Amino acid sequence: MPKQIERELALEFVRVTEAGALSCGRLMGMGDKEACDRAAVEAMRRALDTVDIDGTIVIGEGEMDQAPMLYIGEKVGTGRGPKVDVAVDPLEGTTVLSKGLPRSMTVIAVAEEGCLFHAPDMYMDKLAVGPKARGAIDIDLPIEVNLRNIAACLGKNVSDLVVVILDRPRNQTLIENVRKAGARIQLIPDGDLSPAIATAFEDSGVDVLAGIGGAPEGVLAAAALRCLEGEMQARLWPSRPGEVERAQAMGITDVHRKLTMDDLVRGDDVIFAATGVTTGELLDGVRYEGSIAKTHSIVMRGTTGTIRIVRASHRLDKKPFYVRC
Ligand code: FBP
Repeated sequence: MPKQIERELALEFVRVTEAGALSCGRLMGMGDKEACDRAAVEAMRRALDTVDIDGTIVIGEGEMDQAPMLYIGEKVGTGRGPKVDVAVDPLEGTTVLSKGLPRSMTVIAVAEEGCLFHAPDMYMDKLAVGPKARGAIDIDLPIEVNLRNIAACLGKNVSDLVVVILDRPRNQTLIENVRKAGARIQLIPDGDLSPAIATAFEDSGVDVLAGIGGAPEGVLAAAALRCLEGEMQARLWPSRPGEVERAQAMGITDVHRKLTMDDLVRGDDVIFAATGVTTGELLDGVRYEGSIAKTHSIVMRGTTGTIRIVRASHRLDKKPFYVRC
């Protein structure tokens, strides 16, 4: 039986997401989304190099030929610790940060080797709920049936539910069906990872995340919901030429099959960490105050279900390695 991922590593992963957030947060509103992403990637990559894991990126910045760092298959960590799968979204919400809008964050999930779904960079249809509605969803059923079942579990009326959906033409039929069912909708311009996780927090005001968004964000959401005992179901949604073949090359034989929690994240030995860059449902954004910067992070461990909220104050003059100031 493989050794569990040591609990001490949880704090190390927060240091990684903090490093990314501190670095890209400076570029808020500058209109350069590539620079925002690059800053987060470089800082997280450097921070990851100091962590005692023998990690392989399974969700990252794309294939090796598309990304210089944190590409799928890249080895990360010192090589001295446990063999793990690493999923990163160095900056969830590149456009969002470049415009200074809410809901961007730096994210990592780490699980025992072979336990995270190796999702290609394509779209995924998702349905996510918190722990009270676990077991009540089935992505194969019409959304109105799911909403009725979710509402019953939450002790609410369908008309009380808040469903977050990415505002995209590809989600239009879903939006109309949710409206017909009578639930309330929050259409978001970007960033469906944060609201997927927020479904597990009763006071977040989010009951359901539904619709088609990025597959990498879907796997990261499932890792977080695994720690929070929520549920997500999903299905890959190929839309561009070559995507089916790419998925098959990554070992996904039936690209259209329903993906359950066990397909997305196998077992409880998973750690999820995220740091806010701009303020969202879950986390406050980075604040810079002269030589001090303040971050707000969450780190969770599936094995124990512990959720830690970490508010940190960083002395930027003492962190030249991690932080561009
Ligand atoms: P970026 O970080 O690449 O800007 O993506 C954020 C995001 O909005 C995700 O939260 C979402 O899953 C995906 O992009 C949706 O993709 P698209 O913008 O192509 O519809």
